[in-house]
Amino acid sequence: MCGIIGYIGDKTASDILISGLSHLEYRGYDSSGVALMNNEEVNVFKASGKLINLIEILKTKQNICAKSKIGIGHIRWATHGLPTTQNAHPHTCNCKNLTLVHNGIIENYQELKKELEKQGAVFASQTDTEVAAHLIAYEYGKTKNLLNAMQNAAKKIKGAFAFCAIHKEEPDRIVVAKRNAPLIIGVGQGENFIASDIPAIIEYTKKAIYLSDYQIGVITKDSIEIYDEKNTLIPNKIEYLPFEAVAISKMGYKHFMLKEIHEQSDVVRNVLAGKLLSADKKVVLDEFKLTKKEIKNIKRIQIIACGTSYHAGLIGKYVLEKFAKIPVDVEASSEYIYRDTIADKNTLAIGISQSGETADTITAIKQIKQDNSHVVIITNRADSTMARLADSLLPVSAGIEVSVAATKSYMAQLISLYLLAIYLYEQKEVEQYKKEIATLKQELLELPSKIEAIVENTSNIQRIAKKYSSYKDFIFIARGINYPNALEGALKLKEISYINATGYSAGELKHGPIAMLDNNMPVLAILNTGSVYDKVLSNCEEAKARQAKLIGVTNYIEEKDASLFDDIITIPLGSETIGPAINIVVLQLLAYYIAEYLGKDVDQPRNLAKSVTVE
Ligand code: G6P
Repeated sequence: MCGIIGYIGDKTASDILISGLSHLEYRGYDSSGVALMNNEEVNVFKASGKLINLIEILKTKQNICAKSKIGIGHIRWATHGLPTTQNAHPHTCNCKNLTLVHNGIIENYQELKKELEKQGAVFASQTDTEVAAHLIAYEYGKTKNLLNAMQNAAKKIKGAFAFCAIHKEEPDRIVVAKRNAPLIIGVGQGENFIASDIPAIIEYTKKAIYLSDYQIGVITKDSIEIYDEKNTLIPNKIEYLPFEAVAISKMGYKHFMLKEIHEQSDVVRNVLAGKLLSADKKVVLDEFKLTKKEIKNIKRIQIIACGTSYHAGLIGKYVLEKFAKIPVDVEASSEYIYRDTIADKNTLAIGISQSGETADTITAIKQIKQDNSHVVIITNRADSTMARLADSLLPVSAGIEVSVAATKSYMAQLISLYLLAIYLYEQKEVEQYKKEIATLKQELLELPSKIEAIVENTSNIQRIAKKYSSYKDFIFIARGINYPNALEGALKLKEISYINATGYSAGELKHGPIAMLDNNMPVLAILNTGSVYDKVLSNCEEAKARQAKLIGVTNYIEEKDASLFDDIITIPLGSETIGPAINIVVLQLLAYYIAEYLGKDVDQPRNLAKSVTVE
């Protein structure tokens, strides 16, 4: 989704802006632009499509680049208006003195636009951002001060924004503002940075100030001033950024997605470290803040998440209900927020989010917090908005995930949910599953080596990927605890290869989807030993009887049944409960190799964004 970068110092601003934007590319975007300022002028350069198009333009403007030491930059993910050069940021006003980049959505932009048109504003784009640029410029006309103009404009704007503005009459500063969209100020020596996300600036500084909602910042090369809602100057709170620059390198892999799939064994080790020491020791989860007594009072668990994190939540439901013996509802955040929901202090709310910045999940969390539910956040970003809303924060520490298609963050979320289920089981002193819990703990400890066995031998998966890459549709089926992986496997495939893939619970196949089956429809079945093995096998028979091409992803199959399948991917043995954490690796690799074989832009699929910061 959109990304912001700003620089003020003694270096060539365009170099830092382009480097910053290239580290935000992973978020998904469709155009880019920069505004470069020196003592005499502000120059704006924009391009639709990939960042390389903007880089090519800047190569022809070396004189301007060399003398501009201040600048703001942006990558845009279109919301209002097509992804054209005209709609790309930065935006400006009639006199071109004020230049603005923006993340978020201005909800009352049409009203504001009408008012500004009456004052003579002429608009060159369809964007809501250009309205904000004109509004700030209009306020500047009254105040002759960029800080005051921003303060006045922010009061008139409804919606979400992270703004970064420069003005020709104040060529020594950048002014920023924030409401419900992330923005950080990177602290340097004789230079400062602005970014919507850490990767943009981590190469240059490890110190930053996280702007809070309703705050406005004035940044020069030697100073940072932050004002609160009442226009009072507040002390700067400098924090250390959690990433290393090396984390955003491909480390020799062709794509970030492949690197991140391979990292999953280490991710599991990291999540377990200090929490699960051995099969005969209790899970340690100091981050979970409820007491034993409060845990016993939990009547219901409400999981809220989007996309891949939602699928992790669906698997969480199986383990939490089974072991903690608490009923669990899982709902997509975008649905949760438009219902009259029921929750109270005996409801445990679990928000799951890779980015911690997904707008719908943030709104849902705020909604359930108002009902006095204890909020647990499972996230890969301990520095995120959601993390700051948490009563109990379970950071999964999977390391930064660059590829838009979530893989290692999903694995980390699954492991966290397993640990949480075991922890609640142990705190509630449920006796029923003692043996199964010990097995699950042992299997969690052994999981990294099973993942390694899969990723180190992908020739069969690559062969099958090539064989099926020309199909236009795909169905994924599974049952029980593996059903959410049918959804996730299908999601991975459609996200990066644009093949129309759908996941179904295998038992539902005959209630409609079976009408789609013929020899042009591959059906991938997850066949794990356990309570529904025979049921899934029967569903496979039904599919084969309609001449579907059948792929089995299985940890065990008898020879007599193997002939049912056109292709089989064998995975390491494991119990029904741990199954999803093993077979998902195969589904991720299959999607990856199909997309790679088709030559798709694996890490930055069209139209998708890594972190969806708008509703
Ligand atoms: C976007 C991403 C998905 C992700 C979803 C939820 O759609 O492309 O990969 O699963 O957002 O994001 P979150 O950061 O809340 O997990």
